[in-house]
Amino acid sequence: MPSAYGEMTIKLPIAAVAKYLQDPTARKLANVPKPPEPKPKPAPAAPTVADSGSKVIALTFDDEPGPYTAQLLDILDQHGAKATFFLIGSKVSSQANVVSSIHACDHQLGNHSWSHPELPKLPVDQIAGEIDRTNDAVKQATGVTPAILRPPYGAVNGVVLEQLRLRGMSSILWSVDTRDWVDRNSDIVCSRAVAGAHPGAVILMHDIHQTSVGATPCILNALKQQGYLFVTVQGLLGNMAAGAGYP
Ligand code: NI
Repeated sequence: MPSAYGEMTIKLPIAAVAKYLQDPTARKLANVPKPPEPKPKPAPAAPTVADSGSKVIALTFDDEPGPYTAQLLDILDQHGAKATFFLIGSKVSSQANVVSSIHACDHQLGNHSWSHPELPKLPVDQIAGEIDRTNDAVKQATGVTPAILRPPYGAVNGVVLEQLRLRGMSSILWSVDTRDWVDRNSDIVCSRAVAGAHPGAVILMHDIHQTSVGATPCILNALKQQGYLFVTVQGLLGNMAAGAGYP
C-alpha cells in the first residue's frame, strides 16, 4: 500500500482473515477452504416420558367430582398436563358429565371408594361393595373401569389389597402431601407441591377445595420451568401388579 515510506506489504495469516474471504473468487485466490456446511438440526419431537429422563410427576386429585372439577380440567388442558382423579362413587352419577369429561381429556380415573370410609375397619363384604359400586358407577359414566384405588385416609391392609388383587387392581398412595385440605391457601399449597416435587413424585391434592384448584396453575408453571412432565399414574408407573401398593 502507498505510504510516506513507499510501497508496504502487510502479511496476515490466512486463518485470521479467512472469515472475511468467503466471496468465491477471493476464496479461490487465497486458497481459503470452504467452511463446513452447518448440519441440519433434527426437527424437535414432541416430548415423551421416555425422553424426559425421569422428570415426570403424577398429580393426583381426590374426593371429586365437585364444583371445581370442570375448572381444573380447563387448567390442566391449557398446560398440556395429564392427571389422575380418584372419584367418590356416590358422587359420580349426579355429575356424570364432568366424570365423562375427565375421561375424554385422557386423564386417568381411579376409585376412592363409595362412601369414603376407613376400609380396613369394614368387614370384607363391605370393602368389596365399596370398590365394586364405585367401579360400576365410573364404568356407567365413562365406559371405563378403574384399575387403581386410593384408599381413603391412606388406610390399607392385607384384606383390602387382597380384594384389589381379585379385581386386577392396585393401591396408590402418594409421596408428596400438599395438606391442601388443612391450609386453604393457594400459595401455601403451591409452595408445598413445588418444594416436595422430585422425579417420579405422586402429589396428593383435593379439587373439592377452590384453593387447591387455584394453586394448580402455579404448580404447573413452576415445575414445567424445571423441566417436568405431568403424566397419569399409569403413565408414571406403567403396568402395576394386581394387589400391590404404590408408591
Ligand atoms: Ni379422600
